[in-house]
Amino acid sequence: MRNIQIFAHRGSKGTHPENTFLAFKEAVRVGADGIEFDVHLSSDDELVVIHDETLDRTTTLSGYVKDFSREELKKADAGCKFSEEFSGEKIPFLGEIFEWAKEHALTMNIELKTDKIAYEGIEEKVVDLIREHHMERRVILSSFNHQSIEKVKELAPELERALLFEGLPPNIEEILAGRKETGFHPDRKSLTEPIHASAKKLGYKVRPWVANNQADIERLADIGVDVIMTDFPERAILLLNDRACQ
Ligand code: G3P
Ligand code: CA
Repeated sequence: MRNIQIFAHRGSKGTHPENTFLAFKEAVRVGADGIEFDVHLSSDDELVVIHDETLDRTTTLSGYVKDFSREELKKADAGCKFSEEFSGEKIPFLGEIFEWAKEHALTMNIELKTDKIAYEGIEEKVVDLIREHHMERRVILSSFNHQSIEKVKELAPELERALLFEGLPPNIEEILAGRKETGFHPDRKSLTEPIHASAKKLGYKVRPWVANNQADIERLADIGVDVIMTDFPERAILLLNDRACQ
């Protein structure tokens, strides 16, 4: 039995178009324990699942997500830039993911992409939708913008939250001790054994991102993290299952 969970980063991003149902369904197919994805707000205040602030890299539209309505965003092709094979795939919205998740026992790590654009009110909208769909026990809300996580804590203290980091400040232990959240999501390179040990001592779940090759996955498994986020969930699961059998 694996004792480390695997979360498919932006879905199975390495094999399917990121942050689409194709990538999330692949995560289910390979037996991932969770999916990680990113949310932004459209011009009509709908919760859009996409990574970048702009549409250009992953879709056939061009410009900022915030300047397009849901109806306009639904006209974009979010599959063909990854591969022609996936042409016609639509950008998903958070409510659609919650509907689909009713049939699948996955944890959903929702990243609030408020570190570049504030998206006024996005925290309230996400919390309301989680409650509407009764997904309270299925979600982890994370953000690089720790003020967003503070807002979520005020709005919905019952929800699991996590602090995202890219690089770690020298006083990370002090920050973790002061914030009293339950999830610590560092980039994989920054996570050392002593920092992991400190975070665990403070009661944190440690879920580093993103490990894709064997050496990185094994290093994190040896440290004993709770979750590994990866673009290649099938590869990571096979690797960890092999280790469990040895
Ligand atoms: O949530 C972990 C990871 O997704 C953060 O980085 O850029 O892939 O959203 P990014
Ligand atoms: Ca993310």
